[in-house]
Amino acid sequence: MKTIDPTQIPVPELFGYLTSAVGPRPIAFASTIDREGNVNLAPFSFFNVFGANPPILVFSPSRSGRDNTTKNTLDNVLEVPETVVNMVDYKMVQQMSLASTAYAKGVNEFVKAGLTEIPSETIQPPRVGESPVQMECKVLEVKPLGDQGGAGNLVICEILKIHISETILDDKGGIDPIKMDQVARMGANWYSRANQGLFDVPKPIAQKGIGIDQIPNHIRNSAILTGNDLGMLGNVEALPCTDEIDAFAKAYPETITLSRQETHLKAQQFLKEKNVNNAWKVLLAKL
Ligand SMILES: Cc1cc2nc3c(=O)[nH]c(=O)nc-3n(C[C@H](O)[C@H](O)[C@H](O)COP(=O)(O)O)c2cc1C
Repeated sequence: MKTIDPTQIPVPELFGYLTSAVGPRPIAFASTIDREGNVNLAPFSFFNVFGANPPILVFSPSRSGRDNTTKNTLDNVLEVPETVVNMVDYKMVQQMSLASTAYAKGVNEFVKAGLTEIPSETIQPPRVGESPVQMECKVLEVKPLGDQGGAGNLVICEILKIHISETILDDKGGIDPIKMDQVARMGANWYSRANQGLFDVPKPIAQKGIGIDQIPNHIRNSAILTGNDLGMLGNVEALPCTDEIDAFAKAYPETITLSRQETHLKAQQFLKEKNVNNAWKVLLAKL
């Protein structure tokens, strides 16, 4: 492993490691106004949701690593504690990037990036019309994390209103991740397009899995089964009973004559098909 003491490398280098390692990060495309009413729009990927009751978003405009200046967004929320956090989809990623240009205070990035201002219902900063989800927020607190270049400033926001485009809803009224086509930020110039690599992992909430520690050693130490395979096997509440295994062995007599390696490959195939029960049966029928 390459081991780094953060105090021993220059801040820009550390920034590179941190933003490449912690990702993909969602993007808050935040609109704000100053006390004169000038509109500002900028993206922030030091961002996430931190609670639903109350609904809280936090993003962090940092002090510049180059000259320790503050971002217009930070200055604005200190003047007018309101912001719309707009989510970013693939079709607006280039315009969002353009809006991250360090234009002078007072320059409206909606205009520069060719995006549409639509009025908010509860606060003064406008929403981004092209954004699939727009969240009107009041700023509860701004927490500086330091006074040197590169220091973050947590902008802690409570969501007052959420606007969701009908075009991204599924038939139950929830957000469809494929339709949303969200983008996220990684290190250097890299982005990720979420719906290009979607997969699902059922949450272990309805049941308590037996755990990988309960899997017999000859399966757990397999040279074929991966950590993901073992994770699926360990997520069952109980192993199939002897009757089930016998019935399986009768239905598929060829499985009993498989070598251990072949058995593990067969189990892996069942796991790929999300048939955890059969994976267990083939592993146990061999015993
Ligand atoms: C996708 C993306 C994510 C960004 N995330 C952050 C961030 O989390 N914090 C930050 O200080 N700057 C971030 N930036 C850079 C700011 O958007 C940039 O400094 C911008 O000029 C700030 O605008 P403002 O001065 O109008 O607030 C990001 C830029 C891009 C393109």
